[in-house]
Amino acid sequence: MMNDTTTSTRAYPRTQRLANTTVEVDLLKPEDGAAVAGFIQKLPTHDILFVRRDVTHPKVVTAWLASIAEGTITSLAARSNGELIGCTAIVTDPRSWSRHVGELRVMISPDWRGRGLGRLLIQECFALALGLGLEKLYVQMTVDQRSAIAVFEELGFRAEAVLRDHVKDRDGTTYDLAVLSHNIAEVQARFEVYGVADALGT
Ligand SMILES: CC(C)(COP(=O)(O)OP(=O)(O)OC[C@H]1O[C@@H](n2cnc3c(N)ncnc32)[C@H](O)[C@@H]1OP(=O)(O)O)[C@@H](O)C(=O)NCCC(=O)NCCS
Repeated sequence: MMNDTTTSTRAYPRTQRLANTTVEVDLLKPEDGAAVAGFIQKLPTHDILFVRRDVTHPKVVTAWLASIAEGTITSLAARSNGELIGCTAIVTDPRSWSRHVGELRVMISPDWRGRGLGRLLIQECFALALGLGLEKLYVQMTVDQRSAIAVFEELGFRAEAVLRDHVKDRDGTTYDLAVLSHNIAEVQARFEVYGVADALGT
């Protein structure tokens, strides 16, 4: 069960080999705002419709970083040669009746997609979420994000709901939103399969 004050038990930064290069994974810090804003600018608008609020708005990034400082969001940053190439967020509410549930968000720089970084960060978030005492993670994305859905299904997420016409882009086009979830309490048993057996308590 999650405590009121959520803390990560996982040691960061961590260095990973990926696609013949070295990627550093670290906790995103409240002072990383400029890097986050620059990173988000590179994302196609359609790829950020899954986030409840428009992250291209500076105030939304400010609120995100404030939530990191408060401990209600835990975010990871992946960097290559100092450049932010991917980030994640686990959104929690320790005072809600769903305090055992985290919403997972993952964003990979377009030029880094298809190289395994999304899988690496999602697995890293499994370990992080377990360290935070969470039991379930869910993700949401527009139903036409077939490749994103494939990534999460490959990692054990299953479709749980479709919310019709739930998001509207700047042009006024509406999209259905898919909700996929994963009972991460079962994830520990899978860690060996995914090669992250040392994931907890390190
Ligand atoms: C979804 C996203 C995070 C995936 O990241 P990624 O780094 O491209 O994914 P990976 O390279 O780790 O792919 C992992 C697996 O997913 C599957 N996959 C990836 N791209 C795929 C595609 N276009 N079609 C089908 N399957 C695909 C493959 O099984 C792949 O395994 P492989 O490496 O053995 O081929 C990334 O595309 C992204 O940031 N999208 C925009 C934001 C978004 O929609 N986020 C999801 C909502 S939280």
